[in-house]
Amino acid sequence: MQTVDGVIRARLHSDVVLIRQVAEYIISAGGKRLRPILTLLSGRALGYRGEHLFELAAMIEFIHTATLLHDDVVDESDLRRGRKTANALFGNAASVLVGDFLYTRAFQMMVTTRNMTILEVMAEATNIIAEGEVLQLLNIGNTDVSEDEYLKVIQYKTAKLFEAAARVGALIADASAEQVRAMADYGMYLGTAFQIIDDVLDYSGDADTIGKSLGDDLAEGKPTLPLIYTMRNGSSEASALVRDALENANRDRFHDVLNAVQSCGALEYAKNEAVKMAEQAIASLQSIPDSEVRQALIELARLSVDRSA
Ligand code: IPE
Ligand code: IPE
Ligand code: MG
Ligand code: MG
Repeated sequence: MQTVDGVIRARLHSDVVLIRQVAEYIISAGGKRLRPILTLLSGRALGYRGEHLFELAAMIEFIHTATLLHDDVVDESDLRRGRKTANALFGNAASVLVGDFLYTRAFQMMVTTRNMTILEVMAEATNIIAEGEVLQLLNIGNTDVSEDEYLKVIQYKTAKLFEAAARVGALIADASAEQVRAMADYGMYLGTAFQIIDDVLDYSGDADTIGKSLGDDLAEGKPTLPLIYTMRNGSSEASALVRDALENANRDRFHDVLNAVQSCGALEYAKNEAVKMAEQAIASLQSIPDSEVRQALIELARLSVDRSA
């Protein structure tokens, strides 16, 4: 990861000062670096020892960072990684444009591998992420969204990048088709579990620990799993309250909504769905030879659901 960090720093370079300012601002705030870790572990689990893995891991983090810059504009968020968001500090225009810089820099980085399959995977993944974000936009304020529709959104907007991160590690390692599939499935399940927990933490987390404001999802009118469950399984009062709050998205209702969500065990339900996804991630690793690295992948799946940050 130290080497990946070096690549990230080197590839951030631009003669345009504002690009360096905004990009360094968000990247130096850290973040968990989960997706590049996933790429490294995937490549290593399948025996790859070359240099390309670092470039690919950094590339994945650039795409992730670009989506965050764009996401915080769309979600009108003001806190990320424990700091003011880039949009709050530099404005929406700078955030969107520097996001574009990171997106396109990521494509410059991936072509250095000269691997057409990796290009195909990343072209598809980035396109699906965009579809996921638009699909989510269409669902804003919609109280009829089903669990399956919710799962589709999070698989597109979040799990797809986890899947790609794991898949490119396997591809650069020249793994068998079966092993590439196994790693991709692992990433998809892991990413789904991860986003379900993110949606739980948006209600029940601690803002200092997650480094983001609570209640962003409600303020945006996002029908996430805790709300979907409450609308379908909560008492008629709880259900009506959540429906109303979702239709009239408003952060002021946060405490009432949180009470309604908690009254029917929606957060436990969502957490348990995430645990099931993480178990499926682990089960996907069957064809991967046992090693310390495979063990780390198993730990990573457990950690992704058992987290407060
Ligand atoms: C945030 O991802 C966006 C989601 C998909 C929930 P992370 O929680 O991995 O963000 P950082 O990189 O650690 O800040
Ligand atoms: C993140 O979704 C998905 C992408 C960045 C593509 P969220 O909007 O839930 O992420 P946070 O909570 O802002 O990190
Ligand atoms: Mg957001
Ligand atoms: Mg969120």
